[in-house]
Amino acid sequence: MTLNIQPDERSFDLEAARQIYAQIASKHDSVIGLSTGRTTGNLHRAFARMAREGSLDLSRVTFFGQDEIVGVPQTYSGACYEMLRSELIGDLDIPEERFLMPPTRWEGAEKALRDFTEMLQARGGIDLILLGLGENGHLGFNQPGSPFGGTARIATIGPELDARVRRELALGPEAPLGGATLGLRDVMHARRILLVAKGSHKAAIVKEILQGPVTEAVPGSVLQLHPACEYLLDAEAAALL
Ligand code: GLP
Repeated sequence: MTLNIQPDERSFDLEAARQIYAQIASKHDSVIGLSTGRTTGNLHRAFARMAREGSLDLSRVTFFGQDEIVGVPQTYSGACYEMLRSELIGDLDIPEERFLMPPTRWEGAEKALRDFTEMLQARGGIDLILLGLGENGHLGFNQPGSPFGGTARIATIGPELDARVRRELALGPEAPLGGATLGLRDVMHARRILLVAKGSHKAAIVKEILQGPVTEAVPGSVLQLHPACEYLLDAEAAALL
């Protein structure tokens, strides 16, 4: 386990961007997993700038998202697809065949999710995955209680996100929503993991996943068992360690 604590948000973003850059520079056909949310937006933009300025060869890299909301249009601003597209994929002109995402549509969703994971395998498996962390320890849509041995599936999305999506899209209570996600076993098969967390609201859960017991009640704790997991934190998220 490696701890990488950065003094502020800017250096946190640059460090994460530098690590994605270095991964691709050392292996041009890398398969790289991304997470969406407040933690990662700016680091994605920082990476896009760095890649452009450094003329990084992106012609063979595959990017993918580790999770997605099912039951929304792909163009919805809260869909993981649209967030990643606007934060870096569009800017870097990565074509659709090298930007893989779990489905946003219910129709054929199970098959689309299977195809998604098979494509990751066919490209050699995950070289590096950046993981955001929920305040309850969730990884992707693997909420507390998710099995460590679980694989990709459509799970529930949690009450806060559920309410926000329904409000923003004016969806009634009858419209089904789900969270397509890699399972914890898929995540643990990545060659390298970069767990990213910033802000004082993440300090307690960061301490829990690093120094607490390894338990399915805290999905992020499973990372203690990964041989090449680095925890990239800002000073606020690391404050209780
Ligand atoms: C969401 C997403 C995850 C993300 C996490 C952290 O539930 N499904 O992919 O990693 O929450 O989000 P944030 O960075 O906004 O705290």
